[in-house]
Amino acid sequence: MTEAILLVGGKGTRLRPLTVHTPKPMIPAAGVPFLTHQLARARAAGVEHIVLATSYLAEVFEPYFGDGSELGLHLEYVTEVEPLGTGGAIRNVASRLRSGPDDPVLIFNGDILTGLDIRALVDTHASSGADVSLHLTRVPDPRAFGLVPTDADGRVQAFLEKPQTPEEIVTDQINAGAYVFRRSVIDEIPTGRPVSVERETFPGLLSSGAHLQGMVDSTYWLDLGTPQAFVRGSADLVQGRAPSPAVPGRCGDRLVLPGATVAPDAKLTGGTVVGERAVIGAGARISGTTVLADAVIEPGAVITDSLIGAGAVIGARCVLAGAVVGDGATVGPDNELRDGVRVWCDAAIPGASLRFSSDE
Ligand code: GTP
Repeated sequence: MTEAILLVGGKGTRLRPLTVHTPKPMIPAAGVPFLTHQLARARAAGVEHIVLATSYLAEVFEPYFGDGSELGLHLEYVTEVEPLGTGGAIRNVASRLRSGPDDPVLIFNGDILTGLDIRALVDTHASSGADVSLHLTRVPDPRAFGLVPTDADGRVQAFLEKPQTPEEIVTDQINAGAYVFRRSVIDEIPTGRPVSVERETFPGLLSSGAHLQGMVDSTYWLDLGTPQAFVRGSADLVQGRAPSPAVPGRCGDRLVLPGATVAPDAKLTGGTVVGERAVIGAGARISGTTVLADAVIEPGAVITDSLIGAGAVIGARCVLAGAVVGDGATVGPDNELRDGVRVWCDAAIPGASLRFSSDE
């Protein structure tokens, strides 16, 4: 069966400060490191051998996932001395692949939550005879993405950088971060220097006449690279909107992990997750939020669409919406934190010191 490479070495700068101590794929989504969902989905599609291309905080992956046997997988780890970019990372693990030169190899970005039919992508690759096949998804506003127009047969025509003007928006199809490569194409990526698969390898292949095939699959798709997207993805997993065999427990409005303490009158809704040993105080109202392990939410706090880091403390009656609070930070009582705010790890915000409104 097809083997896979998972790219998990990025610095995850857009998710800081949550990625200060934890690489993005290891941040819990719906109660388990996000990577678990991707590994479980690949396994469910029949993939057995996966090579993890690690770089940033590389040392944390193997102690957690080991040889992968608990997930029914055989996992290997390859760490870059210097980050090699997406294409360089793919090339750097080539020696661990078992596939022959013409065999297909699956490659996944480590931060995409999707219901992609993985087998259909491999089948499309085989039937089209492509050198590389790409999962494409359609987005309502493609301005923030690289566009990938295709012809009537699904063959890729161009890779267009983020479009600036309406005329440049020639398609709503974007690169969705899952590929099938013919093994020999991986071996041709240059070694020993950083290579971007999106900016260098794909455009280079296209101009040299290679066959790149796009497969549009418009099932659930979310790039979890930003805090807003990460909490949405986690909540969608909890609520069963995003498919994963790895969500611990039944899907529903909330997920409370073992050892957590939730006051009887606290309200948890919208796919909220409460991590191990976290404490939710009386009267707290928490919606669409990920509360990581050992965090404390004091009584009366109202929290929406936020990410609360491990061991962080949110004081009584605080109001948080679209906030990110780093591991170990303390937000004193009666603060108001709104969209886009990032409280750094271990920071301490005194009580009643931040507001976005003048009343109350
Ligand atoms: P930002 O810094 O927030 O953009 O996140 P990122 O570092 O994860 O970058 P990006 O989202 O563009 O990366 C796409 C995928 O490739 C992610 O799964 C990254 O983990 C992975 N990735 C990016 N750069 C490297 C690298 O140099 N080495 C390896 N092994 N993986 C990488």
